Amino acid sequence: MPNPSLRTRIEELRRLLRYHNDRYYRDDAPEISDAEYDAMFRELREIEEAHPEFFDSDSPTQRVGAEPVEAFGTVLRTLPMLSLQNAFSEDELREFDARVRRLLKGRGVPESDLDRSGYVAEVKIDGLAVELTYENGIYTRGTTRGDGIRGEDITPNLRTIPDVPLAIPRKGSAGAATTSPGAVPAVPPRLLDVRGEIYMEKEEFRAMNRGRERLGEPPFANPRNAAAGSVRQLDPRVTASRRLRLWVYGTGRTEGISFSSHWEELEYLAGCGLPVNREGSRICRTIDEVLEFYRRMEAEKERLPFEIDGVVVKVNERALQGELGEVSRSPRWAIAAKFSPDRAETTVEEIAVSVGRTGTLTPVAILAPVVVRGVTVRRATLHNQDFIDDRDIRVGDRVVVQRAGDVIPEVVESMTARGKEPVRGEPFRMPDRCPICSSPVERVPGEAAHRCTGKGCVGKRKEALRHFVSKNAMDIEGMGGKIISLLVDEGLVSEPADLYALDARTLAGMERLGEKSADNLVRAVEKSRTPTLSRFLFGLGIPHVGEHLSTVLARRFGSLDALRNATVEELSEVHEIGPEVAQSVFDFFSSAEGARTVDRLLERGGIEIRPEPPREGKMAGKTFLFTGTLDIPRAKAQEMVRKAGGNVAASVSRKVDFLVAGADPGSKVSKAKEMGVRILSEQEFLEMAGTEGP
Ligand code: IVH
Repeated sequence: MPNPSLRTRIEELRRLLRYHNDRYYRDDAPEISDAEYDAMFRELREIEEAHPEFFDSDSPTQRVGAEPVEAFGTVLRTLPMLSLQNAFSEDELREFDARVRRLLKGRGVPESDLDRSGYVAEVKIDGLAVELTYENGIYTRGTTRGDGIRGEDITPNLRTIPDVPLAIPRKGSAGAATTSPGAVPAVPPRLLDVRGEIYMEKEEFRAMNRGRERLGEPPFANPRNAAAGSVRQLDPRVTASRRLRLWVYGTGRTEGISFSSHWEELEYLAGCGLPVNREGSRICRTIDEVLEFYRRMEAEKERLPFEIDGVVVKVNERALQGELGEVSRSPRWAIAAKFSPDRAETTVEEIAVSVGRTGTLTPVAILAPVVVRGVTVRRATLHNQDFIDDRDIRVGDRVVVQRAGDVIPEVVESMTARGKEPVRGEPFRMPDRCPICSSPVERVPGEAAHRCTGKGCVGKRKEALRHFVSKNAMDIEGMGGKIISLLVDEGLVSEPADLYALDARTLAGMERLGEKSADNLVRAVEKSRTPTLSRFLFGLGIPHVGEHLSTVLARRFGSLDALRNATVEELSEVHEIGPEVAQSVFDFFSSAEGARTVDRLLERGGIEIRPEPPREGKMAGKTFLFTGTLDIPRAKAQEMVRKAGGNVAASVSRKVDFLVAGADPGSKVSKAKEMGVRILSEQEFLEMAGTEGP
């Protein structure tokens, strides 16, 4: 019996999704986030799956994108551009693998066939899907995806994009040598539909929005909309004025060429001089390798010059793709593993105030737990009083929390404030007494910060100690915030030098510390007694002196004595050291407290500062580039280079000294050969770095 409330919900979801589809695909101006859209889409699909009686071929779950805009002229496809099913977690990605295996088994395909085929994992570019048609090697048509079958004709617009080749080079032709390192086709195929994504680099997007704001035009919400809005222009000159890019990831119709695998297809497209994102593609033999790639890309996505919103996973062998087939709007042989959103909504349960090592008071939102980018967030910074006032954030509000890159989570806006709720909690006021030591709080003149004025504030002291022992400072392993807090509360430690007087017996007597961990801690403290000058400096927590400037100062002055005796002028003369930093360093060493902290560390703590290791290393001045799959993680290899004084390049150029080629290396190798760059195997690289192997 049909359930009336369910029907209402289904209708509501379909209506909302249709509305937001149009905002996104037709107007290039979305009103909600991708994550919100995905959540609605998923809810609808789940209800429809559980209640087939509500099936409707017109439902947004059965369609792709939005209807094309008439003004462009419509192109009908014989081979529709499909969409992809989404996976929102690692479990769902594993389910995809299990489903593929199950389906293949059901069709009598031995499991070893899939193991041999593997998957191709590629970054999912967040842009606008297009199709380019090449007839006998000549670009003849460009279309948007539209609703999959009917696309908009944007041939002249795409012609203006430099990444779009107007002709596929032939072997031996002028264009072939420079553009296509791999398999250049001897004769271009009669017909080749190339599918890919038009996108705008983040830098270009920011520059363009700055320009628009200057002209009083509304800024684009994100690079995807900016790209889509720039391509879907009736006047191609507008498209030409925006710096758009293209990545291609597959083909549509082909005549005169066929592929046995997706990887081969990508190689071929690259050979045609089309932009294939090799750095962002990889053959994965197992789902675990896919997951590793997915995690790596999620971690690195911030560093890429363009936006990606997930990883697309495709069964590599064409024959297996054929066995798997497709359902309504998407193939069963591929899936889009979306990254968890950078933002999520939750409720502020409380606003706490924390005290930092310099005494700065930071308001922190205590939140109803929410998952952002795969991590459960319970606390998020509210920065300072002004930040809260500007956004009118209050306890009880629904707020948007964001985690960007490795940055700590922050509250970005209050939905409740935006909705202008009449009944709300009180506005937040910074306390006028320090929540830890009750000393008066003052607002730092000229800054948004409030600071505790208490000289011996325990909160400050604990934070300073935590900083002192942290990984990039003195690196006392196992000495976390909880132990520091206990040590300070028990009166065992009040300044850094006290750490060096701790013995295993005292430590073992402490709550939650066993004998073994006490021993380990003492050993870790001992190990930290001979830091380099830069680590020691960084550990002191001098305002404005971070890791990098600590190294700069250490290299320039060479010894602690020289640095302690430097004048403000001498300090300011150092490259990268501005007057503010110079004053801060000078003030620290000439203050009674700073001088005492250092003296005690040297005398009572027995600290012996090691000279700064020279910048020279085995790889000093040499530039390395990596390609293909290495046995050791690429990030590790790059770190080895940097540690040994070398540089890491992002692309082949004459500046590169060595190209390290792993398995399935791709086009860089031939490019490097052409340029006379020396090519190393992974083993040769490891030998050069002085390590045996993974
Ligand atoms: S493959 C049947 N590969 O994501 C295979 N799509 O949500 C269809 N996209 O319509 C697409 N990067 O616009 C594929 N490496 C990639 C992609 C990619 C971005 C877009 C594309 C597609 C949408 C699916």
